[in-house]
Amino acid sequence: MGNDEEKEKEIEGEEEEIVCLDESFFINDDYQLTRFTFGSHVLQLYCLQSASTDFDLTGQLVWPGAMLMNDYLSKNAELLQGCSVIELGSGVGITGILCSKFCRKVVLTDHNDEVLKILKKNIDFHDSLRSPDSPVELEAAKLEWGHKCQLGEILQKHNGGFDLILGADICFQQSSIPPLFDTVEQLLRTRGHGNCKFILAYVSRAKLMDSLIVEEANRHKLRMSEVSETRCVVGNLEGVIFEITLQ
Ligand SMILES: C[S@@+](CC[C@H](N)C(=O)[O-])C[C@H]1O[C@@H](n2cnc3c(N)ncnc32)[C@H](O)[C@@H]1O
Repeated sequence: MGNDEEKEKEIEGEEEEIVCLDESFFINDDYQLTRFTFGSHVLQLYCLQSASTDFDLTGQLVWPGAMLMNDYLSKNAELLQGCSVIELGSGVGITGILCSKFCRKVVLTDHNDEVLKILKKNIDFHDSLRSPDSPVELEAAKLEWGHKCQLGEILQKHNGGFDLILGADICFQQSSIPPLFDTVEQLLRTRGHGNCKFILAYVSRAKLMDSLIVEEANRHKLRMSEVSETRCVVGNLEGVIFEITLQ
């Protein structure tokens, strides 16, 4: 073997360093069964008490936007009665699971596989508490915003789409806003004008995001209206409920 070849092998050897730790070592899954009260509704579910170090694991705990959304829905439960709902960025599932008390069908979605595990665990836990003859369909599905195939599969399974789209505290990353609105538009158009609306529990953390969501709604030809008397302080931040529909 010539010198050059040996040197190449050595370099390759360095590149192929073996690391004996798999990524699960770094994931905190020490979920605690936690009690939440929204009006007269008490929910228990598994979640973390503080954020994980991984930015993409935001869904392991309950966010202020979910508290805002669930307070709003518990005071306006007639909005949900008998409806079919899809939730985007469900995290541990606190909003979708509250909805299952009123709706006929709830599909809770998220893109993160680790988050989907705890979401499914919470769904199973609630299924086990519910009376066996309860007619509600409650399920989890993987959905990355903007992923047309994943959304297509959900829409094929739930022929005709959904009456309501829900999103709690899902606007926090600039690059995910255009695909989020692509997905919302596709869901709204599946149902057609007047037959579906997107309820967004928005928590304002940056002026840039406040204007980006308005711009994206306009770009997708959607009407965005603030629901009166919903602007409030949640977790030291300003939150508000928006209703978003086709123009
Ligand atoms: C801040 S957490 C909010 C979770 C829950 N809705 C709540 O309020 O407690 C944002 C959620 O959106 C999910 N998410 C973030 N980006 C996403 C994307 N591009 N597609 C689908 N889900 C996404 C995260 O995995 C996480 O569960």
